[in-house]
Amino acid sequence: MQLKKILIQTYGCQMNVYDTEIMKRLLHPKGYSFTSSAKTADIILINTCAIREKAEQKVFSYLGRLSLLKQNRKKLIIGVCGCIAQNYGKRIIQRAPCVDFVVGTHGIFQLPSIIEQVWKKSDHEKVFVDFNDNLDEGDIQQKPFLESSISSFVTIIRGCDNYCSYCVVPYVRGREISRPPEAILNEIETKVSKGSREITLLGQNVNSYGKRENLISFVQLLEKVNHIKGLNRIRFTTSHPKDFNEDLIQSFAHLDKLCSHIHLPVQSGSNDILKKMNRKYTRNDYLKKIEHLKAACPDICITSDFIVGFPGETQKDFEDSLSLIRTVEYDSLFAFQYSDRMVAPASRYANKVDESVKRERLVELLKVQAENTLKKNNDCIGKKYQVLVEGKSKRDTGQWSGRTSGNKIVNFHAHENTRDLKATLVDVYIEEACAHSLRGVMG
Ligand code: SAH
Ligand code: SF4
Ligand code: F3S
Repeated sequence: MQLKKILIQTYGCQMNVYDTEIMKRLLHPKGYSFTSSAKTADIILINTCAIREKAEQKVFSYLGRLSLLKQNRKKLIIGVCGCIAQNYGKRIIQRAPCVDFVVGTHGIFQLPSIIEQVWKKSDHEKVFVDFNDNLDEGDIQQKPFLESSISSFVTIIRGCDNYCSYCVVPYVRGREISRPPEAILNEIETKVSKGSREITLLGQNVNSYGKRENLISFVQLLEKVNHIKGLNRIRFTTSHPKDFNEDLIQSFAHLDKLCSHIHLPVQSGSNDILKKMNRKYTRNDYLKKIEHLKAACPDICITSDFIVGFPGETQKDFEDSLSLIRTVEYDSLFAFQYSDRMVAPASRYANKVDESVKRERLVELLKVQAENTLKKNNDCIGKKYQVLVEGKSKRDTGQWSGRTSGNKIVNFHAHENTRDLKATLVDVYIEEACAHSLRGVMG
């Protein structure tokens, strides 16, 4: 077979980044190679995200550009994968006729045979969006890794059973399915042997790990990962506050490789809104857990997600979010304007908030957090941090760049003629705090 070149364009969260890695590992042994240029690709796969309207618009505008490209290159094959594929199925082809096939989130393990089918037949099946209750990974663990990076992702649980009222994920990723611990540990060991020093365990709610299948618990899994030789750091995302328990809090105190960072998305500081969001915790429950965490791990860095302008959010509800931000003193956060997702119940809730009000609230919320971030970063000045070096700084190649255990970016000058510091842990004294990073010198 003539060697076919594939471009995979990835949108969305770390789960999609991980799925793209799986897609490459499955396709490479079948004789495909990869390119980053649409012009030279024979096949373009788009790994899509459906979380907000803007994320969807990005994908459809990319498809618009590809449709022009395809006018001059009739043989180009275009496949839409991931969360939009799962959400819209054949409606994607109706809207963008340049698309040859659609593969949902559970279809990635069948991708090589689907592409082969599309390649060989003109009357091929076009839409593959069935959910599979036991998501069979086949022999993926036997396939080699194509790229090695210092920091890598490993999905431990797929899907989500929480049904937050605004969220599309349970509908596009299906029910929670945990991977067996052996597969996870084996994958991490291989990644470490190829040069990974930091692993981020992924799931929409990692705390649910193993519950449905009666496997080991998430904390037990962390303990096993902590034993892996050659691995320096463990992170995980995301933990749902309702399931963020004392066991996990204590892990931060006793697991030496677990980084001092937690991403604990709260979404809102108002009890009324949290209830309407179906988050199943109150503001107070959340604050209590944060308090315990800070006691167990005093240097913990805390980040979060907020939604502004959820249906029915009053000025008072919004101010409750601002006061929560001031109370917790997050190191940083992500904030989003609420976006209707047709499959999610909140799209049918009354009292939608005006787009202009959402925009104003987003700006104000980010302003309040900017004060926190600067304060937190200023607190680092004069202190020493261990940094895992990822490479030369992108802006200034005279400097190295890496992250602290708390996940803060540090750019620093090394001693003259220092050896290659990439993938090593070095001590850095912080001299300056910037808006989104720290600057220092090697200790
Ligand atoms: N499983 C994670 C969230 C994954 S989605 C959790 O429960 O925390 C990432 C973030 O996107 C969410 O935390 C939320 O802040 C945001 N988000 C999800 N649906 C949204 C919507 N309809 N409109 C705006 N933001 C949304
Ligand atoms: Fe969406 Fe809620 Fe599941 Fe997170 S926990 S993925 S916000 S439904
Ligand atoms: Fe987007 Fe799907 Fe992730 S909707 S945020 S790519 S799980």
